[in-house]
Amino acid sequence: MPATTEERVIALLAGMTLAEKVGQLTQVNASEGYPPEYLGERLRSGHIGSVINQVDVDVVNELQRIAVEESHRGIPLLVGRDVIHGFRTIMPIPLGQAATWNPDLVQAGTRHAALEAAKAGVNWTFAPMVDISRDPRWGRIAESFGECVLLTSRMAVAMVRGFQGDDLSETGSIAACAKHFAAYGAVESGRDYATTNVPETKLRNVYLPPFKAAVDAGVATLMPSFSDLNGVPATGNEFLLTQVLRDEWSFDGFVVSDWDSIRQLQIHGLTENDRESAFEAATAGVDMEMAGDAYSDHLAGLVEEGRISIDAIDTAVANVLRAKFRLGLFEQSITNPAELPPFASEQALATARELALQSVVLLKNDPGTLPLCVDSLNSVAVIGPLADAPYEQLGTWIFDGDESLSVTPLSAIQSLVGDRADIRYVRAMENSRSKATEAFDEAIAIANDADVAILFLGEESILSGEAHSRADISLPGDQAELVRRIRETGTPVIAVILAGRPLTLTNVVDNLDAILFAWHPGAMGGPAIADLLFGVESPSGKLPATFPRMVGQIPIYYSQKNSGKPPSPDNVVRIDDIDTYAPQTSLGMSAFHLDTCFTPLFPFGFGLSYAWFEYSNIRTSAREIELGDSVTISADVTNRGDIAADEIVQLYCRDLVASITRPVKQLKGFRRVHLQPGQTATVEFDLHTDDLAFYGRDMRLTTEPGEFHVWIGGNSAMELRAEFRIIDSD
Ligand code: NOJ
Repeated sequence: MPATTEERVIALLAGMTLAEKVGQLTQVNASEGYPPEYLGERLRSGHIGSVINQVDVDVVNELQRIAVEESHRGIPLLVGRDVIHGFRTIMPIPLGQAATWNPDLVQAGTRHAALEAAKAGVNWTFAPMVDISRDPRWGRIAESFGECVLLTSRMAVAMVRGFQGDDLSETGSIAACAKHFAAYGAVESGRDYATTNVPETKLRNVYLPPFKAAVDAGVATLMPSFSDLNGVPATGNEFLLTQVLRDEWSFDGFVVSDWDSIRQLQIHGLTENDRESAFEAATAGVDMEMAGDAYSDHLAGLVEEGRISIDAIDTAVANVLRAKFRLGLFEQSITNPAELPPFASEQALATARELALQSVVLLKNDPGTLPLCVDSLNSVAVIGPLADAPYEQLGTWIFDGDESLSVTPLSAIQSLVGDRADIRYVRAMENSRSKATEAFDEAIAIANDADVAILFLGEESILSGEAHSRADISLPGDQAELVRRIRETGTPVIAVILAGRPLTLTNVVDNLDAILFAWHPGAMGGPAIADLLFGVESPSGKLPATFPRMVGQIPIYYSQKNSGKPPSPDNVVRIDDIDTYAPQTSLGMSAFHLDTCFTPLFPFGFGLSYAWFEYSNIRTSAREIELGDSVTISADVTNRGDIAADEIVQLYCRDLVASITRPVKQLKGFRRVHLQPGQTATVEFDLHTDDLAFYGRDMRLTTEPGEFHVWIGGNSAMELRAEFRIIDSD
């Protein structure tokens, strides 16, 4: 009988020295400044378990060869790289991928990313990022799947499957890493790395479920966040890394720190020096240190002093070795690039294009604006800093992306329109932040002469992503002024907005006839946008995060709590309506801001189509169900438009009375349906009472009997509702 993975791990561990064990817990930077000659000695002595940031396959193979052939134990290396939304072929940013509400497509795109990364010798990536993100100021919202627990969990599973395939040891599968554990998205005021304070019920009901979903899907590794959680930095947080992850979830992969985050425990003020930081991280449950020296310098000493047991070290090493066995690295650590598809294959580019197409959200479309009809246009003005910016459409985290693959919107419009209409282009602004308005006149001139002006606005890649938070999330620079000036020409104005986050568009929305929100759509964003503008396809993306009217509304998200004084149109007052003297109780007395609406500009789940969809006849299979049973909720969806189109049908639910306050709505299901004009589909969702479970005061996952409301609609604000009751006859 061949030995099991566990037997192989134990056998290997038995022969290892303490130094070799610490080596397995050590990842080193192998980027350009650290060639094999430099790393060779440490590799030969077994002091390195993983390398990061080397993607030259020949160099990687040489590193693997040294580790396997010239070290005592011959243990292959984990080769890590951030492959966040594509490797060579860049797909839309994760937030854009979430806007497709299409996990199968996201999985397919991720598979291409894995195949391309594997071709470079990479066998481990630091994705997906599954942090619930309800603060669009936070730059890393771009890397997230947005604000919703269910949508994020589904996308997390899709990406884990895409990276890891059915079998981690298959050529082309790479280990995934769910990050950043946990609640990183809750950083105060959206400042990256800042502190987070999250009550345990919220942690368990909102922030942890996507990680649990990734663990259940077999994710190989996890990474704690840079931030602290309720006073304890995640990297030293035993509650998260041991109690939740190991004891409650039985995770048997390994935990890698974030870059330098062990040493940062001292900067947080948790420890006095690197040795104590190594102690805190190791005892909390961090198995491997990413690109730092705290473990290699101090772990052995801590064992010799008796502060860390050898059993604890063995457990961590076993976690790492298990991943290496599962990846099949002991059988095959050398990469043969010829066994893998070419970079930027036709299929990869086609998937990138489909993802971009499905990710774009139509936010506004005044009658008769979109789609454009080429044959009735003489001339089109294309204006703006992001119309022809190949690098900027790719978004954050594109270490290995090839900007030369980008097809920009301008070039895609030119090829689609050909000589059927005159396309004139003025960049108008050097970049999105520019405050120079000299070139506006030229833009106004082409808009004046055109049948339609298409403005490519937004933010460049550099304005979102890690450490790139913003306090003002409106269109930067003088873009609002550009919109205003083009509007004055009287020519219809369409904005295509490329950005890494939801933006506050309040100051431009009324000056635009139509808005397509394209996120950073990746290499094939241009053709996808051109197809949507000219009606080759209908937009079908839906918002994965709420768009606030103004920053002061943040956090604003669909699954908020009701409060004891919820706002409604009857109990709010606008600042402009307050009399000179106004008694306190005349001011509404509900949970609202005096100086803006209590609703967002665009709600979660929102997105228009060139068709329009009517929802009717919502019903439940039973008015009452027993705890432990399921109920089917269905509604009819009819395409009342005159073109075939996709609609994302969404199911929301509310638990009306519970032992802790519950959200006013929670997404419980969604489905993409394709409907011909006039066609009706009955869309059904099965809901088990377990799907309605939550962590209550006792921190146990329970479904409480009682009354539930359910909605089916095309966004989180739709009102077609039914009811059912859960009873417990036992
Ligand atoms: C820091 C980031 O927080 C993390 O997400 C990333 O994977 C590592 N650096 C490695 O680049």
